[in-house]
Amino acid sequence: MERLKTPVKSELYPPWKDGKGQRITRFYTGCYVEQRGKYQTDNDYGLRIYMFELKYLTPFNWTENVLADFDTFLQDHAAAEKKASGMAMSMLGHYPDRTKLVKAMADLAIEEMIHFKQVLKLLIERGVTLGHDQKDPYVKAMRALFRQGSDEFLIDRLLVGAVIEARGHERFSLVAEALPEGKEKDFYVAIAKSEEKHKNLFVELGYEYFDKDVIDKRLKEILEAEADICRHIPFTAALH
Ligand SMILES: [Fe+2]
Ligand SMILES: [Fe+2]
Repeated sequence: MERLKTPVKSELYPPWKDGKGQRITRFYTGCYVEQRGKYQTDNDYGLRIYMFELKYLTPFNWTENVLADFDTFLQDHAAAEKKASGMAMSMLGHYPDRTKLVKAMADLAIEEMIHFKQVLKLLIERGVTLGHDQKDPYVKAMRALFRQGSDEFLIDRLLVGAVIEARGHERFSLVAEALPEGKEKDFYVAIAKSEEKHKNLFVELGYEYFDKDVIDKRLKEILEAEADICRHIPFTAALH
């Protein structure tokens, strides 16, 4: 596939204040933005990226719980990265004949494990142990969206993956924004950009194996379901 020329690079989008001067969610991005919500670029896999937007935007005060107990948040974040790596390995084991997916998931499993090690380093520096995995009601509710049938199951695994990555991108951007200057803030900026790449990767894999219309329709349904899930989970010092 032809690699795209990328005209404008933006570190943050959209602008920090809306028309009424309210503070709104903004995202750290490593991608090239042409227009809010509609940009295309390419990533490490040489794939074309199609942006989508979440249907629920986390309010900035979500970060208050995070900063109030940052050690617990880091423990939860470490667990999330570990599970993301395991999920990528499970995907490639389930679809060994889909070479593009296998390659992408092998890379993803490594990248998520590197994230895990980076969070672990922060925990150790703070004198905090890894902690036991906690139940993640968000991930449980998202997995409940998987439909039966081999095509449906793959589509849903890819798109649920995309939306979970998108939520990570959003919330890590908020954490980055809330943290004072320093290495932890720098780390969350980098993490946010990385999760954005993952979000696009899953959609691109969907387009690789299925009709765009089928993917777009199901993505819209999953985004709406995910927004509803987010509205019903109380804010704690956790990613979800
Ligand atoms: Fe990650
Ligand atoms: Fe990720």
